[in-house]
Amino acid sequence: MPFEQAGIYMIKEVFYMEEQLKQLEQEALAKIEAAANLKELNDVRVAYLGKKGPITDLLKGMGKLSAEERPKMGALVNTVRENVTAVLETKATVLEEAAIAEKLASESIDVTLPGRAIKVGNRHPLTRVIEEIEDLFVGMGYEIAEGPEVEKDYYNFEALNLPKGHPARDMQDSFYISEEILLRTHTSPVQARTMEAKKGESIRIICPGKVFRRDNDDATHSHQFMQIEGLVIGENIRMSDLKGTLDTLAKKMFGADREIRLRPSFFPFTEPSVEMDISCFKCGGAGCNVCKGTGWIEILGAGMVHPNVLEMAGYDPKKVSGFAFGIGAERIAMLKYGVDDIRHFYTSDTRFLSQFERTEA
Ligand code: DAH
Repeated sequence: MPFEQAGIYMIKEVFYMEEQLKQLEQEALAKIEAAANLKELNDVRVAYLGKKGPITDLLKGMGKLSAEERPKMGALVNTVRENVTAVLETKATVLEEAAIAEKLASESIDVTLPGRAIKVGNRHPLTRVIEEIEDLFVGMGYEIAEGPEVEKDYYNFEALNLPKGHPARDMQDSFYISEEILLRTHTSPVQARTMEAKKGESIRIICPGKVFRRDNDDATHSHQFMQIEGLVIGENIRMSDLKGTLDTLAKKMFGADREIRLRPSFFPFTEPSVEMDISCFKCGGAGCNVCKGTGWIEILGAGMVHPNVLEMAGYDPKKVSGFAFGIGAERIAMLKYGVDDIRHFYTSDTRFLSQFERTEA
């Protein structure tokens, strides 16, 4: 082909490609403009800028051009591509924002809905009673003592002046592991154990713990329950000390205007023995359903430590004396919180337990 002819051919070719390019650009821009959503926009991107698209085709066709024309044409193709890409991206941003706005409008959140509360546990009512009593006595200089729940007959009975065959044992039938070992029926054995361990020193202890009785469960009886034992031993400990201590306890647990009343009673390990009543916290003494019309509520057993008990544990009853008391934790909790069935304490029903929740400030 003569040189001139070849030149004309090439000019034609370039002209043709430029025309095509302009047309493609117009088309692409019109389709971008028309795209109603991101999916449609992406289809336009693939159709015009993709590897199989017409712009790529045009680039491939540049091989036919002269070395002079090729870069010019290349630059032109790039400009078109950049322009289309830029317009496409702007449109994508617009459509994305529209999509988000639409989503927000259709999925509006009801901020007035209550959140899901995380359930937090709270202290068991018996734990609360025990801790309150512990706090009171620790404040008065008592130590907290503990003893085994599986106990020797000796500490549970004998060391407390209840020899084998003593009729008072019948009131506290237990679960026996063997002739000599049983589940303790009260926290009083901790008295004997502590005295043995302290070897004649003075004592001020409070002892909370589980106890067991061979009882049939009903609204007021349970084969397992909790007691809090108190013991004070020292020189010149008197009945008036016991009375003052119990008065403080009654006022702390049931209100500052409570009065106490001591009635004579019998426990083999105390002499004299008493039972303590408090003036009814509901009616103030006039008589109501809580105090069964008497104006008084029985709370605990107590007394002056029996000389035999002191002696068996190595204390000289001529030199020292002491007082002791035993409180039923369930009874205190039932009275204090108006619980009508002892079994509520052991069934782990959260509807019951959650009533004792306390918000701490
Ligand atoms: N241990 C007695 C019981 O379970 C309660 C008791 C009474 C304890 C008098 C004492 C006391 O320390 O002095 O029935």
